[in-house]
Amino acid sequence: MKIKSAVFVKGVMGDDDILEDGIPQVAFIGRSNVGKSSVINSLVNRKDLAKSSSKAGKTKEINLFLINKSFYLVDLPGYGFAQASLEERENLRKLIFWYLLYSSVEHKKVVLIIDAKVGVTENDAEMLRRLDDREKNIIVVANKVDKLKNSEYKKALAAIQVKVGAHTVIPYSAEKKIGIGELLDRMLK
Ligand code: GTP
Ligand code: MG
Repeated sequence: MKIKSAVFVKGVMGDDDILEDGIPQVAFIGRSNVGKSSVINSLVNRKDLAKSSSKAGKTKEINLFLINKSFYLVDLPGYGFAQASLEERENLRKLIFWYLLYSSVEHKKVVLIIDAKVGVTENDAEMLRRLDDREKNIIVVANKVDKLKNSEYKKALAAIQVKVGAHTVIPYSAEKKIGIGELLDRMLK
């Protein structure tokens, strides 16, 4: 698929008409700083469509990007952001869970992004379990594979695979543009 247009439409903090406008949504979720916004940028081949930052906790809303006037890529805040206040963390956590699990949005796909070097954290495992419980169409992406040494690569990917069970893991690097074709293919299936 060729991406002809990518437009930021809106950031929302809760229920909003846009979430139920019938346009399919592909959501990106994962730890704070794992590279959700960067993965979206790599897919649409734009540097700064979704705002990314080396400081964790950059994305604070549910941001919707309309692609080819036909589906949304949805950038979410991350979880496990230790620097935020307890209240802010709790509010973002509620927002994420509401949007992904309990709102009436029918997700075309939910892309769960894992840090290839850090591996599957407890929060990642909990998120995966909850998404599975809600029978979401999940794609697991192991981002930042460029940070793995050649000697670590196989072991790191195998460890992630064991923890995510039957889901296919796509090795990915938003920075080095690895895995884009495979993710696009799976996303749009
Ligand atoms: P929050 O919005 O804070 O939850 O973070 P995020 O998951 O959207 O992460 P973001 O895209 O802002 O990226 C976080 C940091 O990781 C930035 O410094 C990126 O440049 C870096 N990063 C993202 N993808 C990659 C990658 O594939 N390889 C490497 N080495 N760094 C990456
Ligand atoms: Mg972000």
